[in-house]
Amino acid sequence: MKIQHVGVVGCGLMGSGIAEVCARSGYQVTVREINDELLRKGLERIRKSLSKAVKRGKATPEQMDEALERIQGTTELADMANCDLVIEAITENMEWKKEVFASLDTILRPEVIIATNTSCLNITELASVTQRVAKVLGLHFFNPVPVMPLLEVVRTILTSEETLQTALAFGQSLGKTTVVAKDTPGFIVNLLLVPFLFDAIRAYESGLASREDIDTAIKLGLNHPMGPLTLADFVGLDTCLFIGDAMYEEFKDPRYAAPPLLRRMVLAGHLGRKSGKGFYDYS
Ligand code: CAA
Repeated sequence: MKIQHVGVVGCGLMGSGIAEVCARSGYQVTVREINDELLRKGLERIRKSLSKAVKRGKATPEQMDEALERIQGTTELADMANCDLVIEAITENMEWKKEVFASLDTILRPEVIIATNTSCLNITELASVTQRVAKVLGLHFFNPVPVMPLLEVVRTILTSEETLQTALAFGQSLGKTTVVAKDTPGFIVNLLLVPFLFDAIRAYESGLASREDIDTAIKLGLNHPMGPLTLADFVGLDTCLFIGDAMYEEFKDPRYAAPPLLRRMVLAGHLGRKSGKGFYDYS
């Protein structure tokens, strides 16, 4: 089946980035948010990111206008009915995601693939609420979506080879480099990233060095674009905690056990960049 029209459920940080990248790659996009206010904010985020791309010489003003014309915003999941592939990118909540998957299953043509952008939830469990288990898989994008070149394509034990191949071709059509992983918590990147971030937080908590020196050491000693504490703030401390907890729940491996400081920072509302305060102050 030829994919021409992509549905994106959720227009937050990840959903808006996914919608933008799809539209820039020539796809018709329908993006859904739960209310008009969130939809307006999400579409505004897409417009700002496209303007930045134009300023940085990554797109022409014409390409920006064309991409925006291809994006249709809605608050109705039923408006996805004509989509050829749908990517769910809502909050990391299994029950909410299951509701979306079950609804999409009744709305979409039976041959349409439903993908999730989850970074740690059980994709097999999401597939199980649909009648199209072979057509469900993970398409895990990285933040910021328009800039990060990687796409993790996650197959469950139920995903068909045809679905996997279609998803790989789709990912490559977005200009992403694809890697394939099994449906296990954290896939490839978070499996390795989470213990690294948690170790950095533990090192800071134990007084090994200042946050700036931990970050500088990793930035300049390993040539990473961001130090781990800056990266944790960038990802969102609540998101780091959520992913760690989900991984610990399944693996029971202390590498994924959240550092006490992280849990307390999240409880205190210090969520990183998005809340204005995390390991660093962004106010
Ligand atoms: N569209 C297209 N290109 C854009 C763009 C946009 N909206 N915004 C920026 N760019 C381009 C810029 O032109 C620039 O390209 P060149 O290098 O060719 O000049 C490049 O992107 C970098 O942009 P900036 O100069 O604005 O930003 P920077 O150099 O300060 O880098 C960063 C910012 C890309 C975020 C960098 O710090 C970085 O890579 N950090 C690490 C990010 C990371 O690890 N993300 C993954 C997090 S984990 C995750 O997402 C998964 C999960 O499950 C938790």
